[in-house]
Amino acid sequence: MLTVGADYYKIDVVKIASIFFRKGHIIMKIGIGNDHAAVDMKNEIKAYLEEKGYEVINFGTDTDASCHYPEYAEKVALAVTGGEADLGILICGTGVGISIAANKVEGIRAVVCSEPYSAKLSREHNNTNILAFGARVIGIETAKMIVDAWLDAEFMGGKHGARVDMIMDIEKRKIHGNY
Ligand code: RB5
Repeated sequence: MLTVGADYYKIDVVKIASIFFRKGHIIMKIGIGNDHAAVDMKNEIKAYLEEKGYEVINFGTDTDASCHYPEYAEKVALAVTGGEADLGILICGTGVGISIAANKVEGIRAVVCSEPYSAKLSREHNNTNILAFGARVIGIETAKMIVDAWLDAEFMGGKHGARVDMIMDIEKRKIHGNY
């Protein structure tokens, strides 16, 4: 452990630095959103990320009253494309509806995952900017593993970048009225 200070107030330099710098940012901001099916899991993931030093902006519902997941998907997606958040995490019952909705926002590449391998590869190959999962599908420990795998991975660029560009070209052709 790299420490500074006298014995009675030793400071763990690496830990402090990791809290303030994540992936080249001064405190990485994660926008999180959820519907009524995922309030507990949202709270647990939010606390987990905050403990790791991330800033988490909560866009989700905090009650179990039935609500509409597309509203929360759109809030988080716009926070990501607008720069308020660096990345987004969305949780509903299955992760399916909320990820489909997020993918309708220009610039979003949302993935729904039930295991860590796809989450990691979705960052490395597809440069996903939103991770979704289902509170009725996976447990909290699997959710944490998926979140870790996703956040720790880096986009590889190169041939994968060319393919992501092709994905985004589809979106541009649609926006420009080509079909
Ligand atoms: C809500 O009942 C449920 O449909 C929603 O959480 C999600 O699973 C939709 O994809």
